[in-house]
Amino acid sequence: MNQFKWWQKAVFYQIYPRSFADGNGDGIGDFKGMTQKLDYLNDLGVDALWLSPHYPSPMVDCGYDISDYENVAPEYGTLEEFKTFLDGAHARGMHVILDMVLNHTSNEHCWFQESKSSRDNPKADWYVWVDSSPNNWQSCFDGPAWTYTPERGQYYYHYFMKQQPDLNWHNPDVRKAMWNAVRFWLEMGVDGFRLDAIGTIYEDPELTAHTVPMDLAGLRHFSDIAETPAEKAQVEQYWREMFKNQLGQPGIHELMKELRSVLDEYEGDRMLVGEDDDVTYQGNGEDELSMVFNFPLMRTDLITPEWVRKNQQERIAALAKVSPEAWACNTLGNHDCSRLYTRFSASRIGGNGIHDTDLARLNLALVLTLRGTPFLYNGEEIGMTDYLIPDPSRLRDTMATWYYDRLVKQLKVDPSQAALRAAAMSRDKNRTPLQWRNAPNAGFCPAEVLPWLPVNPNHAEGINVQEQEKEPASLLQFYRHMLQVRKENPALVEGNYRPVHEQVGEYLAFLRSTPSQTILVMLNYSERCIAADLTDLGFRSARTVFAANCSSFQSIAKMDMEPFCIWIAELS
Ligand code: GLC
Repeated sequence: MNQFKWWQKAVFYQIYPRSFADGNGDGIGDFKGMTQKLDYLNDLGVDALWLSPHYPSPMVDCGYDISDYENVAPEYGTLEEFKTFLDGAHARGMHVILDMVLNHTSNEHCWFQESKSSRDNPKADWYVWVDSSPNNWQSCFDGPAWTYTPERGQYYYHYFMKQQPDLNWHNPDVRKAMWNAVRFWLEMGVDGFRLDAIGTIYEDPELTAHTVPMDLAGLRHFSDIAETPAEKAQVEQYWREMFKNQLGQPGIHELMKELRSVLDEYEGDRMLVGEDDDVTYQGNGEDELSMVFNFPLMRTDLITPEWVRKNQQERIAALAKVSPEAWACNTLGNHDCSRLYTRFSASRIGGNGIHDTDLARLNLALVLTLRGTPFLYNGEEIGMTDYLIPDPSRLRDTMATWYYDRLVKQLKVDPSQAALRAAAMSRDKNRTPLQWRNAPNAGFCPAEVLPWLPVNPNHAEGINVQEQEKEPASLLQFYRHMLQVRKENPALVEGNYRPVHEQVGEYLAFLRSTPSQTILVMLNYSERCIAADLTDLGFRSARTVFAANCSSFQSIAKMDMEPFCIWIAELS
């Protein structure tokens, strides 16, 4: 039988370093703070930590613009403090993976500084340079994708901001230098990497122009105001068209193979997870990435049984083409998108919000019981919500400050309207400091210090760790319990997935089975009480391993599920 690797059994927890825990009281998270919270994470029951970038950076894209790949941002601490954190995590049995940004560096990285200094320096070809502004490509964050540099009299390419120049991965010296940075961390003992934006690494060599009749600000504006289905379909088509020559180009597979072989120089099943949903980047199951994210699962306004069934059917079929052992990776939130609690809540789609917590619980039960490795995002466990920062001067996501500026200056939108729209599209709303206590600044930093992003005031309404630790019925305790249930029932990790009762619209039901255990998962996504008849499954009895919003189990012929019930049972 397949020997399951640690990253297949683990539940990952994403730490956003700037917002997680502030150990030195300067309003910015750091390694001292992260180290202090290792026991909290261990008690929560997660097995692996993914750190968003912790490297030195001018922070134009909150660390995704790296200026030194072999060090720690001074505001986060020192390499020594990083090592203390890593050792502390390992000592508690938790693995740690880092974010690795391959596509681009910061414009302040010494490689770029040298590259831009002349046309014939040793790193002249390390980035993507052209003689004249060649086409209408856009940066997905802020306007034209080409920026002029007087020193060379040439333009460089950047898929993201102009402070994030794209590396030229056709140059073998670039590969060598980056793989050395990868080795630097592997030698220190990190367990793998989340690979940032791998689809953006190569561009169409013909530099074919896009055919959308507007620029990026125009398209964002059109996306905001599109109302009719025809307009919305047009918006989607324009987004695809605008970037199609800048994404998913040939060469990525070869590069992933090369990187895989670097990891394979080291012991201990080091892993790679790609920020992409294309399962072909898993190669033959062994020679490229360990996993890619199942992002399609979260591309919806509302999680419904029908949506999940369709998603699983498609993903499982796609993975099977990679290899019988290709592994899935499920998530419902990260630092780039609206928080799970807000995004999939009933209030967001016009409901009254009474069941938002029930839905958050159902969605956690879902990611922890589907086949594949779950990724959770920090703060999710206490039900942190999006916070629309009302003052545009407090926004830190450059994508949003750029958009605010364009709305006001170019598109003449009223500043108060522009502020609302910028706050809503900004990723700051889902990156606010973690809410540790009902105290000034939510206990993240001292009362007199201004945190790097405003704290969500709802920390005073029970959305904080300290109060939820004391409250047996809290979301935090629910997370702990569910994580425990997953650990205690091997079928939830190793078992295959078989949907049952597929004709039912209100609840999702599926079996997870190994040769020695079969677990039934029933998730009632509706406001109705439902009596389910399970006799067709061919089992005689069921032992409840977890139940929420459920009458106690009576018989296989009649399982009463109250609204939003979660019932997980071992069948025999
Ligand atoms: C990825 C990151 C995002 C970042 C971008 C550019 O999508 O998740 O936060 O802005 O890459 O590096």
